[in-house]
Formats: sequence, structure tokens, C-alpha cells
Amino acid sequence: MAYRNIEVANRGAIRTLTVNRPDKLNALNRATLNELTIAFQQAAQDDAVRVVVLTGAGDKAFVAGADIAEMNGYTPVQAQAFSETGQRLMLAIERLGKPVIARVQGFALGGGMELAMACHLRIASDKARFGQPEINLGLIPGFGGTQRLTRLAGRAAALELCLTGAPIKAPRAAELGIVNRVVEHDQLDEAVDTLADQLAAAAPLAAAGILDAILNGGECGIDQGLAYETRNFALAFSTEDMHEGTSAFLEKRKPEFKGE
Ligand code: COA
Repeated sequence: MAYRNIEVANRGAIRTLTVNRPDKLNALNRATLNELTIAFQQAAQDDAVRVVVLTGAGDKAFVAGADIAEMNGYTPVQAQAFSETGQRLMLAIERLGKPVIARVQGFALGGGMELAMACHLRIASDKARFGQPEINLGLIPGFGGTQRLTRLAGRAAALELCLTGAPIKAPRAAELGIVNRVVEHDQLDEAVDTLADQLAAAAPLAAAGILDAILNGGECGIDQGLAYETRNFALAFSTEDMHEGTSAFLEKRKPEFKGE
């Protein structure tokens, strides 16, 4: 499918999706949200894709938020649909069943921070800035920010970021557990490529089991969460990859995982 607002590129089993509206700092309008949702659905269905990297075009912004110009004219009913569209995309990313890495090279504000938080891992340039500035617009986060930020960084950090609207630098985002790693700006691509390569070589069905146990199991009480883990642990024993991984260890060789 031809996209107008995103770019799709493949390197081996790694698919990179780039939000491509640099003149608007990659702001998320409805069309972009819809294109991203379709692109993630395609990535989910394509067995050749084992890892997705999500980023924004240009050096300045990952994504500078939901499109303020579009929101300016919304009625409450349209705003509800917009929030639901954004949240649907974030859930599609979170529940992809394959690891998704956010490559954050610049501003990740509002919907951009929410988009990064829906990814499973975040690598940030030391030039990146994170924030939930919706309050400065008389708004609140609408693409899951109040919920995912609380889960990632705790209630105090979520309240601070959402109530002050003030942006934070990448090292502080790392301190708060919002990003996994901060690297020098010119090392960002290498760091993302290395991580993506590592994840692409990992057993895909085991990765899916881990994502399910941590993301879905993590939303339940401990008994249900542990049941998620046991189910996915047992399921791994039905895969060829589990036999390959354990045999390779015993035979002192590198495993080759097929996702079967
Ligand atoms: N929605 C729509 N357009 C946006 C946008 C957004 N979230 N963020 C930036 N843009 C547009 C600007 O309107 C401008 O467009 P124009 O050239 O047609 O006027 C263009 O992107 C460049 O942004 P600009 O503000 O000129 O860049 P800057 O370097 O002065 O400031 C930011 C950068 C990120 C600090 C600033 O753009 C900003 O505060 N953006 C909004 C962040 C926000 O509140 N996000 C949450 C939305 S819910």
C-alpha cells in the first residue's frame, strides 16, 4: 500500500516505519494514525518481519504530538473518535507480538511521547526531549499517556510531567525508567541497529510469549499473571525453536531460530 505520511523500509527481518511529516515535526493527524495502524497490522501479519523500529523523519522530532491544527476544530464527539483512533494504534503496537523499538532522536511530546511509550523498548539520543505538554493547550493526554506513563515511571513522575507540561531531557527520562538507553546523537543509529539485530536473531515465538506475559500478564493480579507465564512457558515447549535453542546449548553451537 502507498502511504502519504509514513515511510516503510526493510533491512533483513527488521522493518523500519518512519513518520514522515518533518515540516510539522511529524505531528500525528488522523491520516497518519490510520496509516501507522495499517502498517503495524501488516508488520504483525508478515512472518518475515521479526522486529519493528519506529522513528520520525529528520533530526528535530521523533513526533511533536497530536496535530494541534487538526484538533483545534474538533467537537467533543470528534475528539472522542480521535482519542480512540490514537489508543487503537498504541494498542496495536503494544500487542504486536513482535518487539518494537522506538528510535527517539528529538522531540517526543504529547502523542509522540505516548507513541514512544507504546513501543516495547526506547533508545534515545542525548538530544531527545520528552514531555506531556497537553495541559499547556488546556488538554489532557488522549492516546494512553496517563496510563502508560504511570505504569512505566510511577504515579509521581506521571503527575509531575502531565501537570507541569514541562519537557525533560533524555537522561532524566532514563532515570525515570521512561527510556531504556540514552546514547550520543551520532551513535543512535548504531545502537538501534545493534539492538534490532539482536532481537531479530532471537526466537520469535519466545519473544511473543515474553511480550504477552509481561504486557498482558502484568495487568492482572499476581495469580493470573503467573498463570499467563506458565501458559506461555508450556507453549514454548511445543516449538521447534525451543528444541533448537536447548540442543544448540548442549551441542555448544549457535542456535538458528525459525519461528516454528
Ligand atoms: N501539531 C501540529 N503542528 C505542529 C505540532 C503539533 N503538535 N508541533 C509542531 N508543529 C508545526 C508548527 O506549527 C510549525 O508549523 P508551521 O511551520 O507551518 O508554522 C512546524 O511544526 C515547526 O514547529 P515550530 O513550533 O515552528 O518549531 P520550534 O522549533 O519553534 O518548536 C516545539 C518546537 C516542539 C517546541 C514546538 O513545535 C511545540 O511546542 N510543538 C507542540 C508540542 C505539543 O504541545 N505537543 C502536544 C500536542 S497534544
